[in-house]
Amino acid sequence: MSNKVNRVVLVGTGFVGSSYAFALLNQGVTEELVLIDINKEKSEGDAMDLNHGMPFAPSPTKIWFGNYEDCKDADLVVLTAGANQKPGETRLDLVEKNTKIFKNIIDQVMASGFNGIFLVATNPVDILTYATWKFSGLPKERVIGSGTILDTARFRYLLGEYFDVDTRNVHAYIIGEHGDTELPVWSHAFIGCRPIADIMKEKPQYKQEDLDNIFVNVRDAAYQIIERKGATYYGIAMGLVRLTKAILQNENSVLTVSAYLEGQYGQNDMYIGVPAIVNRNGIREVVELQLNEEEKEKFTHSATVLKDVMKRVGL
Ligand code: 2OP
Repeated sequence: MSNKVNRVVLVGTGFVGSSYAFALLNQGVTEELVLIDINKEKSEGDAMDLNHGMPFAPSPTKIWFGNYEDCKDADLVVLTAGANQKPGETRLDLVEKNTKIFKNIIDQVMASGFNGIFLVATNPVDILTYATWKFSGLPKERVIGSGTILDTARFRYLLGEYFDVDTRNVHAYIIGEHGDTELPVWSHAFIGCRPIADIMKEKPQYKQEDLDNIFVNVRDAAYQIIERKGATYYGIAMGLVRLTKAILQNENSVLTVSAYLEGQYGQNDMYIGVPAIVNRNGIREVVELQLNEEEKEKFTHSATVLKDVMKRVGL
């Protein structure tokens, strides 16, 4: 990580990857962006197309279609490659296919001499982040999964709409698997600095049933979008840019990511979505919330489901 300019290498220029590249360029986050994909023509075309937008970007980004040797000097390698869900498939259904793809990719990235940070977005993200950590041999804090960053964004957006408050003033997290067993942390959900529980007691127009529906819509959002347009990509791409900024600009931001647990939340030796402080070195620390009994139980269930799948694929 001694090069003077920031270099991001993106592996996978499908819908998520190319949306990420577009958002990254538009926000002027990195000086260099390398695109890699098995479909060389596609990523070559993406590099050309993105470069043509350069006069309209806030700052220059050198973008090129590259290869794994470019990872040697990369600060961050972002992984969006792999199969995505077809209508009716769960994220966990992708595990066998994508673990194999990842072994191949990580081996090639590491063969370049890469010594930066991995940011993983491919599903099932918690399991593939663990696989990336295992396959790469990098320190746990330098392997990060997008985890529940998008679910938390969906949650904040819907709560902002419901309470008619700027979504940026909604402070609430979705934790656990980025998938069907995730859970909302209602015990630590705030509008500004006010607990949502207090607002609910005071204002009868707000109903528990509505909050429950909001969570269901968060959990099932990907299914709803995939049914309509075949894939989800803008939201996750913006979440990945947010994470890229937190890392490259050493922000020490609290974001819900897939982080390695060593005893926190009662779990060990796994990656799962939790709030964590993210900076130039990766994950500085996991933020441990005092969950209530119901939340603890749901988190444990989510972790158990992930562990079972990990075992099944030999991780
Ligand atoms: C999403 O939640 C499919 O994981 C992707 O949008």
